Amino acid sequence: MPDRTIKLGVVPYGTGGPGSYQLWHDPDIPGDASVDIDWFAGVAREAEAAKFDLVFIVDSQFITPHSPPHYLNRLEPLTLLSALAMATEHIGLVGTATTSFNSPFNLVRRFASLDLISRGRAGWNVVTSGDAGTAGNYGLDEHYDYDTRYGRAEEYVGLARALWDSYEDDAFPRDRASGVFLDPTKQHALHHDGTYFKVAGPLNLQRSPQGQPVIFQAGDSEQGRDLGAATAEGIFTFAPSVEAGRAFYDDVKGRARRFGRSPGDLVIMPGISVVLGDTDAEARELEQHQWESDHGFEHSLADISRSFGWYDFGAHDLDAPFPVEALEHAARSFFTQAQKVTQLAQDEGLTLRETVLRTRQRRSGPFVGTATTVADRLQEWFEAGAADGFLVGYDHPAGFRRFTAEVVPLLQERGLFRTDYDATTLRGNLGLPVPGNRHTLARRDGLVEEAV
Ligand SMILES: Cc1cc2nc3c(=O)[nH]c(=O)nc-3n(C[C@H](O)[C@H](O)[C@H](O)COP(=O)(O)O)c2cc1C
Repeated sequence: MPDRTIKLGVVPYGTGGPGSYQLWHDPDIPGDASVDIDWFAGVAREAEAAKFDLVFIVDSQFITPHSPPHYLNRLEPLTLLSALAMATEHIGLVGTATTSFNSPFNLVRRFASLDLISRGRAGWNVVTSGDAGTAGNYGLDEHYDYDTRYGRAEEYVGLARALWDSYEDDAFPRDRASGVFLDPTKQHALHHDGTYFKVAGPLNLQRSPQGQPVIFQAGDSEQGRDLGAATAEGIFTFAPSVEAGRAFYDDVKGRARRFGRSPGDLVIMPGISVVLGDTDAEARELEQHQWESDHGFEHSLADISRSFGWYDFGAHDLDAPFPVEALEHAARSFFTQAQKVTQLAQDEGLTLRETVLRTRQRRSGPFVGTATTVADRLQEWFEAGAADGFLVGYDHPAGFRRFTAEVVPLLQERGLFRTDYDATTLRGNLGLPVPGNRHTLARRDGLVEEAV
């Protein structure tokens, strides 16, 4: 196998995520898929049989009656992933959790637990929460502004990594003969007193076989890209074309270099929509059909409204110019996305109706065609430096089955994807280094610390 191979992840969306409002009608999708652990275990096992690197569970915590079906009724990611840990053996288990509405000690402990339960397969997708309404579920009148959101996230990740190093790897002799369970010099408190958080430590949990959970990040704003480049080991993103993918890839790896990091220690994985057919034309027809059934006007308006903090566009005349003042409501929501929509409307002088119609216009995706076409495209993106791997999104279980049965073997034949797992941990499979325990390293380097 060559040194650099494609990494693959799957994102199970149960009864249908954003832009996927009709999926639940399909008899192949159980109506309760999003709350059925057996359904998730089935997807994870299928991905594992195809040697995928990871299964990724997205999350958010604010809904309206217009939210996509999966969002209306779904399992909490860490609870779900803990169950998947027992249903699988090799695949990485990555979940979204927000730094805006979780107490650090509690969340860090839960990820450390998942990492031990899965024997080193846990990953954390660090988000700051785009849904501004979440604040109302956590006793706040409004969501934090972007600088505060990302300031908290940065401090939070540093804090998490410090807490995960509370015990050095040889902290527990568990020696019955001498009666020594713990070597107290290998347990370290933190006494963190930062801008946003105050945590004494130590964490009451040892490190896992991969040292620490893998940190992922998915923000696209300036602050989001900086946070990813400075702290993350995996980046999830969206890219409409190979050129856009390369631009993002170069930008984020360049930022990582400027933060003194090796760009190889950061795996970039765009989320892609795959549609497979017996011919390219058939796949494109299928794509068109799915797009039309999922992008009714009302649903497309709901998708836009979410980016703008669920702003009520219903109060506006559909045939009047796009209400640019709505952008104010996005300031603490999905601002980067809302800004793109507003910019488009302004640049082209669109009405509200035209803006919605433009966002629901069919764009033929790059990963639509026969298995060979899709494999060629994946190879092209990977070799062009637009991606280190891909998050495979699929519209239908049969589509994912086809991907694992037809596309994966082509990638394997070309030496672009593994035929068996490289390691027992997520870090090992992604080719990421195990971070040494900071206290052990300090001792090795002669910087002896006080044990607490
Ligand atoms: C592939 C991908 C997956 C994401 N998953 C989540 C998620 O599960 N939950 C969430 O709140 N935001 C998620 N996001 C959104 C971002 O993390 C971020 O909060 C949002 O884009 C707003 O911040 P930004 O303006 O910095 O991009 C995801 C983004 C991408 C590209």
